[in-house]
This record gives sequence, structure tokens and C-alpha cells, in this order.
Amino acid sequence: MLKRTFIATLVFAACAAAAAGDDAARLPEGPGRELTARVCLACHDSGNFRKARLGAEAWENSVADMVERGAKGTPAEMETIVAYLAANFGKDAAVRINTAPFAEIKTVLGFTVAETRALLAYRDGKGPLRNLEDLRKVPGIDPAKVDARKQRIVF
Ligand code: HEC
Repeated sequence: MLKRTFIATLVFAACAAAAAGDDAARLPEGPGRELTARVCLACHDSGNFRKARLGAEAWENSVADMVERGAKGTPAEMETIVAYLAANFGKDAAVRINTAPFAEIKTVLGFTVAETRALLAYRDGKGPLRNLEDLRKVPGIDPAKVDARKQRIVF
């Protein structure tokens, strides 16, 4: 019994590590990406910050808040992270529909929980969406909603 619990714990830890790896791999390319993954995915997944759209100053405050909560890095590293966040999740930043996590799609695009789930299931099953036409055809998503948000979506 104890052994089974131990194995279950190992499997759970391995799955959690794989999920964290996927989360890091889906962060947008650019300077500061690896650092942001290392520092900012230590306590929670990327949804916490990817669902936000903030200006540089607000990102600076958010990162300072995380340092208060225990995020580790030098001041120079934190500056690099702020620049990365401001560049990729700034006020008008589009949603990268093929790599965005649940919280980002739902919050930034205003999709319902059901629509967001439908999109993630489609993406996982069929692979990346190529264009708006693909997105309009996802079962469970209202095509009119896609059209209304097309300026905020990139593939
Ligand atoms: C030492 C742990 C820890 C680290 C490392 C960490 N955070 Fe957090 N973060 C938290 C906690 C705790 C919360 C609040 C609970 C939750 O939503 O998970 C949070 C929440 C957030 C939120 C939601 C807003 C809020 O204030 O609740 C954002 C945005 C965020 N973190 C961004 C970041 C960024 C960016 C980094 C990297 C610089 C980072 N976090 C690193 C612990 C951490």
C-alpha cells in the first residue's frame, strides 16, 4: 500500500514537472524568456501573468510584489523580466492562440469556460490552428465572437 502511494506520488511529480516544462516551452520567444520561466514559474503557472495586460510600470510593480512574496533574482534579472513581460504582455498585446494557456484565452479574449475548453481540446487534438478560418470552425466557438476579436489574436 505504501509502495503504491509512493509510486503514485512519483507519477504525480513527473506529470507536474512535464506540465511545467510545457508551460515554459509555450512562453513567447524573446530576450528574458528563459529567465522569466525559471523565476516566475517557480510557484505558479504562467496563467497568472499571461492573463494580464499591463504597461511597463504596472509590470514593475507586479514583479516587485512577487519579490515580496519570495521570487528570487538579482535586480538586473528582475529588470530583464519586467522588459520581457512588458514586451509580450503589454496593454495591447495580442493572444498567441496556439500557445496561450487557459486563463489568458479566457480573460483576454473574453471567451467562456466552455469555449476556452473547446479551443484547448481542439488544439491538443488537431495541432496548431493556422488562421482565423480554422478558429471560426472550432466546434463550440461562436464564429462571430472570433471576428469581433480578430485584432487581438495571432497564430
Ligand atoms: C515565491 C513564490 C512566487 C514566485 C516565484 C512568483 N510568484 Fe506570482 N504569485 C505568487 C502568489 C502566492 C500569488 C497569489 C496566489 C496565486 O494566484 O497563485 C501570485 C500571483 C501572481 C499574479 C496575479 C496577481 C496577484 O497579485 O495575485 C501575477 C500577475 C504574478 N503572480 C506574477 C508573477 C511574476 C511575473 C513572477 C516572476 C517575477 C512571479 N509571479 C513569481 C507567488 C509567486
